[in-house]
Amino acid sequence: MLASASGQEAGGCGSKDLVSTATDSHFPSLSSASQPQIASWHTSSHKHERRPAAQEEQLNEEVKRFEELFTLTPERLKHITDRFVTVLKDGLDAPGKTVPMLPAYVFGWPTGNEEGRVQPPALSYLALDLGGTNLRVCHVVLKGKGKFEITQTKFRLTDEQKQMDGQKLFDFCAECLHTFINDHFGGGEGEEPILEEDIALGFTFSYPMEQDAIDHGKLVRWTKGFGNPNTEGKDCAAMFRKSLESQKVPIKMTSIINDTTGTLIASNYVKQDTKIACIFGTGCNAAYMEHIKNIPKIGHYNLPGDEDMAINCEYGAFDSFEHKHMAEIRTKYDEHIDLHSNKPHEQSYEKMIAGLYLGEIFRLCLCDLIDEGTLFLGQNTYKLEKTNVFDTAFMSLILVDPTDELLTCAGLFLHFFGLETTQEERNFFKKLAYMIGLRAARLSACGIAALVTKMGYLEEGCGVGADGSLYSKFPKFPENLHKALEDIFGEKGKGIVTHQAEDGSGVGSAIIAAMTLKRKEEGKYTHC
Ligand code: GLC
Repeated sequence: MLASASGQEAGGCGSKDLVSTATDSHFPSLSSASQPQIASWHTSSHKHERRPAAQEEQLNEEVKRFEELFTLTPERLKHITDRFVTVLKDGLDAPGKTVPMLPAYVFGWPTGNEEGRVQPPALSYLALDLGGTNLRVCHVVLKGKGKFEITQTKFRLTDEQKQMDGQKLFDFCAECLHTFINDHFGGGEGEEPILEEDIALGFTFSYPMEQDAIDHGKLVRWTKGFGNPNTEGKDCAAMFRKSLESQKVPIKMTSIINDTTGTLIASNYVKQDTKIACIFGTGCNAAYMEHIKNIPKIGHYNLPGDEDMAINCEYGAFDSFEHKHMAEIRTKYDEHIDLHSNKPHEQSYEKMIAGLYLGEIFRLCLCDLIDEGTLFLGQNTYKLEKTNVFDTAFMSLILVDPTDELLTCAGLFLHFFGLETTQEERNFFKKLAYMIGLRAARLSACGIAALVTKMGYLEEGCGVGADGSLYSKFPKFPENLHKALEDIFGEKGKGIVTHQAEDGSGVGSAIIAAMTLKRKEEGKYTHC
């Protein structure tokens, strides 16, 4: 017998899996959704029948209400895309714009044959990736012809680390790098690590940075819930170097890049029709390759106008501050999340799309229905009423629930929030999760469409390397995104094809380190 009357005994058996995966990222392994243990958390159905529950018609009315709020028509998408194109161009003209379009000092596409220096043959690279959820250290061997090998370790970041003094955060990064080197390359007590001399380290720092060279990066502002003091406005590359010295890590950092830039280069290294890279994960952003002559704000560097440079758009900031480009579709839930975040009025587009926020949008919708007296009548809802308790991964689990009764969904509400649900409520939750995810995917298409329009890629079509937990794990996200591109561009939209990107923060960072070494050895723009 799978069900237990209280749900407690059954709840215990599967919880470890779900807790650990759900806190690991916004998207636990979806395969766990089909495991029977999760279904075993369901409680007895006759108990549901006794409590006053929302009626089907009432919930159908709510579905209609939310559909009105979250549906984006093709016309609306086209309108947002048009505004987006203007904003992207503005960002290239002058510094300090809302969407800052940050030059990344990565010059042109990789050849696919990057292997590192010829003299001496330095074939491997280290990469450190400070993302939104984890810190990752990688050792990458580039093998040329688009091939590579990678060894990596992930360290989970705590909430405290996201708010501690900036220098301490970089000290932690240096410590993790030290641990990785010792674990993988000897260097125990009193021993020197066995690594190539002068091995290059690429630092993937996935926050907006203003750069004037590949190895400097002034943090414009923290995003994704980070708020470490004494960091904004400072050169994070210099801060990290200071930590490497104080932690006695004998490694030279040669480049600091954004995850989207790394993804652009890594994806193009293996698939040369890739012209744009996007991250749809804890945050959302894109990078592409621009002609230097179209970046007036760096005109004073006198770089050759017909060379190309990667641009980290930081377009998660679209519609920030004045909120005038998406005013018609901004809901009270988006407004609430924005105003209650550590960075009100910033990253407005990202807050409607990214993994850090979708679960919270879903939760706020439920809280509204609790307040209206529609959901969970007679039950204690305090657990669900806490900010950010509903991970976006839960929405994925609800959407992939393989059972007609939506038993995974039932188990999830019971186990995490102590709430019993009826079949009608669970059907409603599934529809709501789908609508919120659909809006995110369709809005995501506008940023891509704006870049395609700006660069004139529509006629020929192009590949878009995409990465991040939302893209790879949220059900139907890529399909919905493609459908929205067709809504925007018609048939031709079919030529804009996203694909799972290569690992930008690891492999991309290593390729960029190799490209930079080569460029400097050739004496090209050595000051950048
Ligand atoms: C946020 C960051 C950006 C990053 C994106 C994806 O938008 O500001 O730098 O690329 O998240 O990680």
